[in-house]
Amino acid sequence: MQHIINSQLICADYEKNYPLIDHGKGVYLYDKEGREYIDVSGCTAAVTHVGHGVEEVSKVLYDQSKKLAVHPTHLFYNEELENYLKNICDFAPAGFNHAWTICGGTEAVENAIKLAYQYQKTKGLNRTKVLARWGSYHGNSLTVLDVGGLKARRSYYTDLMVGHNHVSHCLPYRKPEDQTLKEYEDSLINEFQKEIDNNSEIFCFLAEPFVGAALGAAGPTENYFKRISEICIKHDIVLISDEVMTGFGRTGLKFGMDHFGNYADILCCAKGINSGYFPLGAVIAKDNIYNTLKDSSRPFYSGQTYSCIPLAAAVGNANLEYIKNHSLVENSKNVGQYLKSKLELLKEIPCVGDIRGEGLFLGIEFVSNQKTKAVIEPSLIFNKIVERNAFKEGLITYGCRGTVEYSKGDHMLLAPPLILTSEEADKIYLGLKSAITQGYKEIS
Ligand SMILES: Cc1ncc(COP(=O)(O)O)c(C=O)c1O
Repeated sequence: MQHIINSQLICADYEKNYPLIDHGKGVYLYDKEGREYIDVSGCTAAVTHVGHGVEEVSKVLYDQSKKLAVHPTHLFYNEELENYLKNICDFAPAGFNHAWTICGGTEAVENAIKLAYQYQKTKGLNRTKVLARWGSYHGNSLTVLDVGGLKARRSYYTDLMVGHNHVSHCLPYRKPEDQTLKEYEDSLINEFQKEIDNNSEIFCFLAEPFVGAALGAAGPTENYFKRISEICIKHDIVLISDEVMTGFGRTGLKFGMDHFGNYADILCCAKGINSGYFPLGAVIAKDNIYNTLKDSSRPFYSGQTYSCIPLAAAVGNANLEYIKNHSLVENSKNVGQYLKSKLELLKEIPCVGDIRGEGLFLGIEFVSNQKTKAVIEPSLIFNKIVERNAFKEGLITYGCRGTVEYSKGDHMLLAPPLILTSEEADKIYLGLKSAITQGYKEIS
């Protein structure tokens, strides 16, 4: 059953009719006609860590909302928040002992930038520019779009932007053919160093450990973050890790940056932090950031109506307990490795160029030629052909583009709930094999 979108909705797509979704259970979603789908993308993109319909989380949402949802924050503190902050700081890497909650990923990134700015300003540094990477999406407010490097999303609003700084992304699969991985890394580090040398107003560097939807779970070269961090320390630049997609076990470790070292100063979290059961985001900061603010006796100059409310904290706590009690970080690692090994087999289809990512954060890049890595003709929008075919196979996937010149190059991001079993991974592999084989026939 297709549903005509009600004209009262400010619409994302005026042409397309969408089927109506009904409910979810575990890794499965069901439409109004009872059709079952595997939520391979994790509700568009990497949200549903604990899966759908989890009683332990939804019960806490109900109970806490009955007890107390919000409170007058100018006069009271709440125990739910206090417990929750302790638990996420315990879950975070060493030295991250202070946190702040908001409603989602964009707000987490924006608040991390504010925190870094206030930290630097308190130390007497009057710097005003953020450095980030082209080809990364960090959120949708005007400031965060400006800081982010996803041209497709930024371009409509560039007249409203102040203009922050950007360097190239790190995408090993697409390094220049004549460079080794080490030479490629060297060239990116040199570019980064030059950008810092030429722009003394930069106060923080923002990056995703693995770039999500924009590049399809692309991790960096081996020593990329180590070397970036050395430059940041030397120039007193705060390193912000955008863990909105990669946090809370998504990549098979607690945080994406854990794969490379404890280099970040601030972590931005959302999505899997609450698996979608209630809007929540958080920034988690290292002690030196917090202590600098505390010693200045100034509060963090931020705060919104729904910052640090008990309802979000209680649900966040239930989500985190579920992740810990069901060993979902380990499951993400193990089943992720298994799924990745199955996806590698898709390379027998001539249009599958690269399989990448860690844990249950995986990407497939499509090409028209596996040797030359030439992109598929952009007007075909191949990623959407595969997405459509996969949908018919009962798989919800997320097709994207932009790995080449930020506008060409098709890929797909896979980020299923972290409760995925190897039997369900087999179903994903078989469905994708059929969807991609069929898609390849359609364009050949
Ligand atoms: C890496 C990353 N950062 C930030 C955001 C923004 O999060 P939100 O949509 O919750 O505002 C996203 C959203 O997809 C993201 O992928």
